[in-house]
This record gives sequence, C-alpha cells and structure tokens, in this order.
Amino acid sequence: MLQTTMKKSVILTGFMGSGKSTIGARLAQVLNYKFVDTDAMIVKRDGRSISQIFLEDGEDKFRHWESVISQELADRERLVIATGGRLMLDENNASVLGRNAHIFCLTAEADEIIKRLQRNSEQRPLLNVSNPTERIRILLEQRADKYARFPQINTSGKTIEEIVKEIIRCISMI
Ligand code: S3P
Repeated sequence: MLQTTMKKSVILTGFMGSGKSTIGARLAQVLNYKFVDTDAMIVKRDGRSISQIFLEDGEDKFRHWESVISQELADRERLVIATGGRLMLDENNASVLGRNAHIFCLTAEADEIIKRLQRNSEQRPLLNVSNPTERIRILLEQRADKYARFPQINTSGKTIEEIVKEIIRCISMI
C-alpha cells in the first residue's frame, strides 16, 4: 500500500559514517524507488573525486555542486536520496530539496562513527587532517543542533533491515 501510493522522495541526512548510502540503497529496493547518492552524482558530473574537487577548487566548489544537485532532484518523485553529510544543513538546500520529501537523520554514537570512519576516511577530505578523531568530534558538536531539527533514526546496534523497517514505519505514520 505504502509503496504504491507514496510519491514523495525520502531524504537521508546525517553525519559521515551514519550509514546513509547503505541504508538508502536498501530502502530504495524495498520501496521500489530509485536510489541516488548526491556525492556520487557530483563525482560523476564533475569528473573528479570529492577529494580532488576540494584540493583543486576548494570546498566552495563542492558546496556549489551540492546546491545544483539539490535543485535538480527537488522536482523528482519516488527517490531515496542519500545526501552528503552537510548538504541538508544548508538552509537553501533543505528548503528546496526537502519541500516535497520525507527527511530522516541517521545517527550513531560518536565512538561508533569514529570506528566506522577509520575504515575509509581518506575518501573524505574534511577528515584528511593530522587528528581525524578530534575533527570528527568537533564537527559533530558544531552540527548537532542542525541535525537535531530532523526526525532521528538511531542506527547503533541495529541491522540494515531493522533500520529500513523503522524508517518505513515512520513514513507510514506521517
Ligand atoms: C561531507 C560529507 C561527505 C561529502 C563531503 C563533505 C560533510 O559525505 O559530502 O566529504 O561535510 O559532512 P558523506 O556524509 O556521505 O560522507
């Protein structure tokens, strides 16, 4: 019922390592929606990795791409969108992209995020610093209030299937 009648897209936000892409891909399968990942779209469109964009043109260029992609995705339906960790914290992106979508913020304990990110932090330019753990804690603290504005889905200690079910349950209650 939910799968056939719902048209609104589902947006996943949350800090790096919160599981947006993994959960989003599975959620899209279950809902029979198309899955898109804003970071992957930017890489494809720009032709460079995120790290290269940051290095060669600076963070502003990457943030500009995020706003372009937000505009483009805003008018589409039945998408599950995994957004880059800061995309939805920008007021303009959030109002454009979020106007016709269900939004959920995936969360996890800071220690859990740190553990998850240790595996592949080199793909994340913001963590390409001498002390990535400290950087993660600072960014989490700086962004906490903004993430808290969205409905929260705690991912710690849960399986992918459990998290997907929880999101679908939340959507069906809205
Ligand atoms: C960023 C998160 C990354 C990516 C970029 C910046 C951020 O996406 O968009 O490195 O500022 O939080 P993920 O959250 O998918 O890692």
